[in-house]
Amino acid sequence: MTLKDNCKPRSDVIFLSRSAGEAGKYDKFVQELKALGCSAVMISGGVSVVEDVEKAVNATKRPIRGVLQASMILRDRNLPSMNFDDWQAATDPKVKGTWNLHEVLLKENQTMDFFIVFSSWSGLVGQPGQMNYASGNTFLDAFVQYRHSQGLTGAVVDVGVVDDVGYVSQNARLLDFFCMTSTHILYEQDILDALQLLMTRSLITLDNARGEKEVGIGRGRRAFVNKAQLALGLRSTQPLSAQNNRTTWRRDPRMALFAHENLDVNQAPSSIGVDSLVAIELRNWFRQTLGCDSMTILEILGSDSLLSLGKRSANMLKSKYASDVMTGKEHVQEYMNTKMP
Ligand SMILES: NC(=O)c1ccc[n+]([C@@H]2O[C@H](COP(=O)([O-])OP(=O)(O)OC[C@H]3O[C@@H](n4cnc5c(N)ncnc54)[C@H](OP(=O)(O)O)[C@@H]3O)[C@@H](O)[C@H]2O)c1
Repeated sequence: MTLKDNCKPRSDVIFLSRSAGEAGKYDKFVQELKALGCSAVMISGGVSVVEDVEKAVNATKRPIRGVLQASMILRDRNLPSMNFDDWQAATDPKVKGTWNLHEVLLKENQTMDFFIVFSSWSGLVGQPGQMNYASGNTFLDAFVQYRHSQGLTGAVVDVGVVDDVGYVSQNARLLDFFCMTSTHILYEQDILDALQLLMTRSLITLDNARGEKEVGIGRGRRAFVNKAQLALGLRSTQPLSAQNNRTTWRRDPRMALFAHENLDVNQAPSSIGVDSLVAIELRNWFRQTLGCDSMTILEILGSDSLLSLGKRSANMLKSKYASDVMTGKEHVQEYMNTKMP
């Protein structure tokens, strides 16, 4: 996609940012738009301030066809030293800002072809020191589902590390850091391609609206599918098992399938070196990570295969959560069928 594709003659691009009014800062951008037949309307203000969003929305008399919400403030801190200001600084543009755009445009009865929000894979897999930013991004992922549930257009791109435009491109050390961790690096064209795809997927389809789909082998297997959410660049340049792969998702339990592609789940834990000390660690993991409080060391050591250990823990979770969440026999059975591995 190029700007040309989206700039129809006599269309306006309204650009809202706190520094939009700074002399000279966006001259090239404005000139480029002009050359493509668009007029740029620069509005100085913050997306978290509802009056500023109203000013931007009312800056044109023409119908508003789409929104690209890409505001970001980073205030990275480890959680113990993160104060409320740090939290708000990073979450406000994403949470308050997006909500302001949503509400003001609804109030103005603007039905748009697309409403694309820029999120990050930090919300999917986490990044040390970015709890505030990650939370803002998970809000965006959920926000798109909310818009769909209201019959409104919406799409989200969970961006990875971009080399040639934006924040990381201006911080050479950060880019080096990500390269060294074996993170796949994206380029501007990847973002443009994603936006083009998401513009077509912003429209409500049955799949987007339902969110759940029957997938895989076996009855009752369901997975969440949202075609209007794209995670970009969640890839490594080294296999997950490589020592110099230091991506944050390497240890993510959801990646276990890829990290241990050759693991034979029919082996007994004892046959792959699980002794009593490892079994203690495993039992703690089952308790802390999965909440399987009744898993015992003896069960782990005596299990005839990894598969049956997995089934045992799944059953523990089913009885724990089915009895917590549901009341009534039929509902419990229905719930258990849905969650059956
Ligand atoms: N670049 C990457 O590698 C990367 C990776 C993952 C996700 N992303 C996502 O992609 C989007 C764009 O990132 P980027 O790299 O282009 O970031 P960037 O260069 O830092 O740009 C962020 C923009 O947000 C604006 N902004 C911040 N607070 C605002 C507010 N309260 N109201 C209005 N505008 C505000 C800033 O302008 P002012 O300062 O003038 O307000 C700036 O133009 C972000 O949503 C980010 O989360 C980027």
